[in-house]
Amino acid sequence: MKSNPYTRALLQGEGRLERLKKSQEDYFSELIQGKYDKDYIEKRLRVGQVHQMVGLEPIYYLAAYNQYVQITFPKFAEAFSEKNQEGFSSLLSLVKVIFFDIALALDTYFKTNTFALRKRNEELQRALGMYLQSQRREEQYRQLLSHEIRGALPPPLLPWKCYWRKRAVA
Ligand code: HEM
Repeated sequence: MKSNPYTRALLQGEGRLERLKKSQEDYFSELIQGKYDKDYIEKRLRVGQVHQMVGLEPIYYLAAYNQYVQITFPKFAEAFSEKNQEGFSSLLSLVKVIFFDIALALDTYFKTNTFALRKRNEELQRALGMYLQSQRREEQYRQLLSHEIRGALPPPLLPWKCYWRKRAVA
């Protein structure tokens, strides 16, 4: 995380890296506890919220997770090598929890984006409604105005009629 300029920038700040190390330590230890209750889910959703707050793009979260998997899985496989089927099942269970966690962490991003899109959509609908209303009003004024002008001008006063009448008299 420190070698990438983007993630390095996010880790600036008093004691942030140290806090993150501790948070991740707790995170991974809870991951294998096997207690996936309401409290666990809320904590996992919070990971996504905190990441969103610090401005972490999901792709960097996934990249970091992938790196951890790449580093640790060969070690797990080695450790489980003698337990064949049992070891394999344990690894599959771990993958399952990892997917569950990732889904929860990303869910907050989707929810926020969906909420923002819905809000933008509502604003657009409102603006469109106001625009159509102003168009209708403009059309009504135009009709009213042309009606009043026509009413105010009696036919003999129309310019070409006056001209021909004057010519006829002359
Ligand atoms: C395997 C991937 C990752 C996991 C499991 C993870 C986990 C966590 C957890 C558990 C927290 C604490 C949430 C809370 O306060 O409730 C946290 C916070 C944070 N994470 Fe991540 N994280 C990951 C990747 C990253 C990456 C790639 C960055 C980029 C630099 C990052 C930056 C941060 C920052 C800045 C905080 C807030 C730290 C603080 O000020 O306390 N995380 N993360």
